[in-house]
Amino acid sequence: MSKIPYSQVTPQHIYANRRKFIQNAALAGLGLAGSAIAAKLDNVAKSPLSLKDEKLTPVDAVTGYNNFYEFGTSKDAPARNATNFKTNPWKLVIEGEVAKPKTYDLDSIMKLAPLEERIYRMRCVEAWSMVIPWIGFSLSEVIKRAEPTAKAKFVAFESYYDPRQMPQARYGGLPFPYIEGLRLDEAMHPLTLLCSGLYGETLPPQNGAPLRIVVPWKYGFKNIKSIVKIKLQEKQPNTTWALANNNEYGFYSNVNPGVDHPRWSQAKERRIGEFFKRDTLMFNGYGDQVAKLYAGMDLKKNY
Ligand code: MTE
Repeated sequence: MSKIPYSQVTPQHIYANRRKFIQNAALAGLGLAGSAIAAKLDNVAKSPLSLKDEKLTPVDAVTGYNNFYEFGTSKDAPARNATNFKTNPWKLVIEGEVAKPKTYDLDSIMKLAPLEERIYRMRCVEAWSMVIPWIGFSLSEVIKRAEPTAKAKFVAFESYYDPRQMPQARYGGLPFPYIEGLRLDEAMHPLTLLCSGLYGETLPPQNGAPLRIVVPWKYGFKNIKSIVKIKLQEKQPNTTWALANNNEYGFYSNVNPGVDHPRWSQAKERRIGEFFKRDTLMFNGYGDQVAKLYAGMDLKKNY
């Protein structure tokens, strides 16, 4: 793993603005930057799990075209409505079927492992895609320290929810807090990222500050934002989109061009910023790394 200064991977205007952004956020008392994370952002290592030959989606699209229903349902609403979301101090609890339950603050979680940049292909269930330079480390770093018991088969995640900070949520048509889940082996896969930044910055609120999950071979809604709880359990967890519409959103939700959404095809996708559609890849192109997790499973049934 090579150490690279951010000036080499990040567009110059962002790099130059970062210190100023952090100072301003601190001055404003918003706690936006999450100082424990910000302090770690220089000289982030480039992960071998990072894609090499994909063109990055422009930062304005990554931070301006979002799904975060707690802050509104239109794509530009989260960037407008989440500006003052208070993400520092923050607590992340890991509990359930573990020998060592823990409660972390941002400082203690940042001590678990060095941050890496991971450029991942992302595929939304709405048939658009992006390529995003995320920052974080493998979620397994957190889970293994909690020492899962033999009963732990699944991991349930929960987002922060505060109707006072998220008044738009009541028009979202979803039950909150937002919840998601993975099988334990999926959550322990090295590609599964506990994400704290993108494009050389701490995560903007609209992208799920201060900590969110990124699972690049699954549809975007599995990538739960602003998480406060990780619970290991024996039973398969409920998920927000399945609670809202059980027929349309399966637990696995692996990207699969051969299984259409009941209301539209998943065979092709539009890469944000491009005109022509491209073919969607099985497991979003990560099959070499993850297909073995599903050996023997009928992925048409387990969609
Ligand atoms: N997490 C929470 N808490 N609330 C949400 O509405 N939307 C999901 C996912 N995580 C969502 C969420 C969906 S549908 C997508 S496509 C991704 O976040 C979008 O992540 P991005 O805005 O960083 O691209």
